[in-house]
This record gives sequence, structure tokens and C-alpha cells, in this order.
Amino acid sequence: MKVRGARALITGGGSGLGEGTARRLAAAGAKVAILDLPQSRGAAIAGDLGSGHHFVAADITDPDQVKAAVEGAAQALGGISVCVNAAGVASAARVVNRSGDLFPLELFRAVLDINLIGTFDVTRRVARIMGSNKPNEDGEKGVIVNVASIAAFEGQIGQAAYSASKGGVAAMTLPLARDLASLGVRVNCIAPGIMDTPMIAGMPEPVRQSLLEVHVFPKRLGRPDDFASLVQHLVENPLINGEIVRLDAAARMGPR
Ligand SMILES: NC(=O)c1ccc[n+]([C@@H]2O[C@H](COP(=O)([O-])OP(=O)(O)OC[C@H]3O[C@@H](n4cnc5c(N)ncnc54)[C@H](O)[C@@H]3O)[C@@H](O)[C@H]2O)c1
Repeated sequence: MKVRGARALITGGGSGLGEGTARRLAAAGAKVAILDLPQSRGAAIAGDLGSGHHFVAADITDPDQVKAAVEGAAQALGGISVCVNAAGVASAARVVNRSGDLFPLELFRAVLDINLIGTFDVTRRVARIMGSNKPNEDGEKGVIVNVASIAAFEGQIGQAAYSASKGGVAAMTLPLARDLASLGVRVNCIAPGIMDTPMIAGMPEPVRQSLLEVHVFPKRLGRPDDFASLVQHLVENPLINGEIVRLDAAARMGPR
């Protein structure tokens, strides 16, 4: 599917990987709607992209807000043909810490609610809207790119909830692709390594320093545009479907 003329909904487009994707797709000729929390930078970034680009505020854990935001984006853009689910959170805790405290169940639920169920909710709402698009010569009506993490496969100490949520996002890629094939919608998933975004900048300095060592080659953090360029390829290449692509410079995470 061509990016030029695409109508792209990008969750988490107010920061980091989502922002990089919004900027790249807009520069390549897509109309973009950023879905993010009301207090995010989403509105400012959409304003920066210029006319024809929009911001829709929503917390993806609230199904009513998701419904309103996805419908609002479809109305503003004149439909949705691309969706990138980049909204997410990283939070870490030990299952049983040194003081004997247990991993709080409410934290575990909250991480799954945002990263996994929120991604699924946006996916199902967007897929139905994509199903009414006019198909291109390959029969494509839409492309969805979900965002997991290499922590889906090699979660570190403290990442039980994050890895469970991202493992879920990765594992649902193939069934989503199979399920939505009848609507003409492809679904792929990117599993990034360590990317230079506010999510990583917000981590304690010793953790940040250790993460700098994880990428084998090139020995640098990933950039939002490395991610966005893969999104663009997944949108444009009609044969990639049901795939999980690691974007990690040969990194394999150790236990800590
Ligand atoms: N940065 C990395 O190294 C890295 C690595 C692997 C995977 N990821 C994943 O990539 C995605 C983007 O991460 P990032 O690094 O750009 O993070 P980020 O913190 O820079 O951006 C995340 C965005 O998601 C939004 N968001 C969070 N909770 C939300 C909610 N409930 N409803 C709506 N929006 C919400 C935030 O407001 C923010 O704008 C996340 O799913 C993250 O888990 C990031």
C-alpha cells in the first residue's frame, strides 16, 4: 500500500517512536491522526505537521474513549488505511523484592491493560473501518503495525508484566493477520531493541548505561526514524503479513 495518500492513525504519536512515525509518514505524503493522552504532546505535534493532520485525545484503556477517538480520526481523515499502535508504557518491579513485597497485581493489570488490551481495542475498531475502504490492485484495504519489544522474547529481571504484555502483542500478530485477511487488512509487528526515546531517557542512569551496551552493531541506540522507516516498509510491501520483525542491531537481552 502506498504511503502517499494513506490515512494513518498513530497511537502514542505524541512521543518517541509514534512521533517519529507520524513525522515520517506525513513527510511521505500521508494524512496523519495522532491518538494520545490529552496531556501528551500529541496536539502540538499534529499542529506542527500542519493542515490535514489531526490530534484525537484518548486513553486507550477506556473503550468509550477509544471508540470516540477512532471514529473521530476516521471522520477527520476521511477513513483510515494505516494504523500504528505505538502507545505503551514500561514499568518494572520484581515478583518478590528484597523486602519480601509482592509485585502489585494492580500494576500487572495496568501494564496489560495499556500495552495489550489497549492495542487490541484500537486494532479491532480500526479494522472494521478499514474493511469499508476501496481495495487496491492487491485487494489491500488497510495495514496495521503493532509494537512489541525484544522483551517479548528475552525479558529481564523486573519485566514480568512488560514481557507478558509484549509477548501477547507479538503472539496475536499471526491470528490477527489470519482473522483480518478477509477484510483485506495486513497485520505486522515490530519488536524494537533499545530506542532513544523519552521512555528510555526516563530510566535510572545505571539502567540507561547498561542498555547502551545491548546493541551489538551498530553500537548505538535505535532512533525513532529507524523505527519509522521499517513501518513505512511494512506498509509498502504487500507480501509482509503476520510477521514479527526484530529491530535490534543483533541484541539479545541478558537477565539484567
Ligand atoms: N523506547 C524503547 O527502547 C522501546 C523498546 C521496545 C519497545 N518499545 C515500545 O514502543 C512503544 C513506544 O515507546 P516509546 O519509547 O516511543 O515511548 P514514549 O514514552 O516516548 O511514548 C509512548 C506514548 O504512548 C502514550 N501513552 C501511554 N499510555 C497511554 C494510554 N493509556 N493511552 C494513550 N496513549 C498512551 C504516551 O502518552 C506517549 O506519548 C511502546 O509500546 C514501547 O513499549 C519501546
